[in-house]
Amino acid sequence: MNTFITSMHSGLRWIVLLLLIYSIVNSIIRRNTYEKKDRLLYMFTMVSMHIQLLIGLVLYFFISGKVQFIEGWMKVKLYRFYGMEHLIGMILAIALVTIGHIASKKQTESSAKHKRILIWYTIGLLLILAFIPWPFRAGLLGQWF
Ligand code: HEM
Repeated sequence: MNTFITSMHSGLRWIVLLLLIYSIVNSIIRRNTYEKKDRLLYMFTMVSMHIQLLIGLVLYFFISGKVQFIEGWMKVKLYRFYGMEHLIGMILAIALVTIGHIASKKQTESSAKHKRILIWYTIGLLLILAFIPWPFRAGLLGQWF
């Protein structure tokens, strides 16, 4: 069960990344039209991140062996990354995307709606890319899937 939840969190990253990229490209291409499908795309992207947050919290508090608040944990790269950096970076990214989604919905013009998505979702994407424990980042024990 624990491995299943960890794998879900790991695999869902690709869906989050694809949806974010799709949303950003969509916000550029469809600047002057805004339909239900745009709203749904932007909403699903945000929801996928909220799901990731929920799974992340379960991992953080109940499952992961990579979160250890032993003495001197801040000096151990692995524990510092999962116990603090990954948590703060991802929560910030999710908050910014949520703010962008709300800001976009408040606009009345199509171009303004897409512009909010373009700005906030791009910042969110960059943060997520920076705080994913990619396998090529030494000492984080990350996997591709
Ligand atoms: C969109 C947001 C997030 C993405 C894309 C993401 C992505 C990932 C990835 C790719 C891993 C590595 C999995 C592996 O290599 O097997 C991971 C691990 C982990 N994440 Fe996240 N994460 C997100 C948000 C969060 C949040 C908000 C939390 C905490 C509340 C969290 C807690 C953890 C923990 C504890 C691990 C270590 C799991 C283990 O024991 O292997 N994540 N995350």
